[in-house]
Amino acid sequence: MCGIVGYIGDKRAQDILLSGLKRLEYRGYDSAGICILEDNDIKVIKSKGNLEVLIKKVDDQTFGSQGIGHTRWATHGKPSDENSHPHLSNSGQFCLVHNGIIENYNEIKTDLTEKGFDFKSETDSEVIVNLFEYLNDGDLLSTAKKVTEKLEGSYAIGVVNKENKDEFLVVRKDSPLVVGVGEGENFIASDIPAILEYTKKIYILDDDEMALISRGDVKIFDGNGKRIIKEIREINWSLESAEKQGYEHFMLKEINEQPEAIRKTLAGRIKNGLINLNLDMSEEYVKSINKIAVVACGTANYAGRVVGHLIEDKLRIPVLISYASEFRYNNPIIDQNTLTIVISQSGETADTLAGLREAKSRGSKIVAITNVVESSVAREADYVIYTQAGPEIAVASTKAYSTQIAALFMLLMELGYKRGSLDESTVKHWVTELIGIPEKMQIILENSELIKKYAEQIKDSTSLFFIGRGVDSVSCLEGALKLKEISYIHAEAYPAGELKHGTLALITDDVPVIAVATNKSLMDKIISNIEEVKTRGAVTYGVAFEDEIKLKDEVDYFMPIPRVDEALAPLLAVLPLQLLAYYTSVVKGNDVDKPRNLAKSVTVE
Ligand code: M6R
Repeated sequence: MCGIVGYIGDKRAQDILLSGLKRLEYRGYDSAGICILEDNDIKVIKSKGNLEVLIKKVDDQTFGSQGIGHTRWATHGKPSDENSHPHLSNSGQFCLVHNGIIENYNEIKTDLTEKGFDFKSETDSEVIVNLFEYLNDGDLLSTAKKVTEKLEGSYAIGVVNKENKDEFLVVRKDSPLVVGVGEGENFIASDIPAILEYTKKIYILDDDEMALISRGDVKIFDGNGKRIIKEIREINWSLESAEKQGYEHFMLKEINEQPEAIRKTLAGRIKNGLINLNLDMSEEYVKSINKIAVVACGTANYAGRVVGHLIEDKLRIPVLISYASEFRYNNPIIDQNTLTIVISQSGETADTLAGLREAKSRGSKIVAITNVVESSVAREADYVIYTQAGPEIAVASTKAYSTQIAALFMLLMELGYKRGSLDESTVKHWVTELIGIPEKMQIILENSELIKKYAEQIKDSTSLFFIGRGVDSVSCLEGALKLKEISYIHAEAYPAGELKHGTLALITDDVPVIAVATNKSLMDKIISNIEEVKTRGAVTYGVAFEDEIKLKDEVDYFMPIPRVDEALAPLLAVLPLQLLAYYTSVVKGNDVDKPRNLAKSVTVE
């Protein structure tokens, strides 16, 4: 969740580091810092707060052309100047940035303290830089090997050695890190967009790999220190696609990118009206699956819930849906006949990755649904379906959610068809409906004025309820999460029929209720539930198909969506909910893209 960037070349390093950090801010933003190697000295500038605070502190007279930078989202120790990265070793010889968590840092710290080291910060990262100093044998690579042998936990580390002006070192384990290759200059980053402005040629480091980066060379080594040759990847993301493109916020841009993102996610996966995901899963294996486990966090978990619901309904396979943070502690009933679906936009969420490993250790095969090529989740899964959402920068996930549902829905169709539980005409019908989704999304997006008005109406509420039945109650979970996350209004998602078992006591004329109602067979039921809350004074809003007149007449305010096969309704129903959360956050003057206390990618447990 923190961000790393590094540079060595002949340009002024601070400019490249600061612009890279700007693009990494979304990964963590309670503090930031850089260090520059200049005149045989390491200059460290860091501070609590956002990047602007750091930029003001940076001395315009620093011309060194080698350095590393970091944006931090606190894990060990509060956000403060001292806890910000980079960290210097006691003598000032080494300077280090770190993403991840060192689980045994307390023991190492005690040990180093006994040996005379002292610590200025509360971080686990400062112990690493002092280990470099303590174990220094004059060779950066072999010292790094000795250091990492002592570390338990996850890390992406960049380290500069004052005695070695011509190169710096990186090493990673369970935390992403890439090396960007330029002409007479090289870069490192935890996230590709940080360096995309400078190069599209990237080495993706694997766990335990180390690299020595100099101006003209990148030498990569395995965990034993043996030189290895890796393939350079050409990244085809444009820098623009990682920027706002004229939208006021990344979140709005990403909401509006959903039609295109769905098109890209479907592209190349539909053949003769049927699905072909190229998963290389034998029919025999597909038929042997007797359970599906879904493991994911937050929004990704809700995407899994939507399709999990449909898998049980349409394929009649039992689905176990787990929050990844709970999964490995719940002794899950998983074996070789279970197919585990792991969903993660970033592909780096620590809990999700741990869930994947847990399921694997119990003999389950893993399908990963992820947005990031070569992410940890993608590399460790047996099968991967990439969502083609492009970079998602806003902390609140939107296009990742809808593309995850689209990818999962394709998986449902492929499995169902191979197992014989879905016939060709059903699949072809759904495929046609799926192809029509982008256009229908566009209609909702073009009519968002109404939702702006509703945002004004709810902005001063302190609490809201989202109610729905069946799969609509899952869309409610996502709607409530979005609203909480960026508008800071308390919101609860409730299966509508459960209200009367206690929660109805909370409904007053100060508590608006948003009903999602896309299921024809449950329409009368949800209308009765809306009556229940109206009787208690609630102002009601409804999301339903545009021709659902009864529902439209029942609620005070209506948010129509174009008609689609009910199985695909969650792909449309979520859009008004995303827009409502977005505009509410905007009218409240909140930091939409970077909500308080949160980070985009949660790479620690
Ligand atoms: O990168 P991931 O999909 O694994 O992230 C999972 C959650 O942290 C993420 O979806 C989170 O809930 C979003 N901020 C919600 O908008």
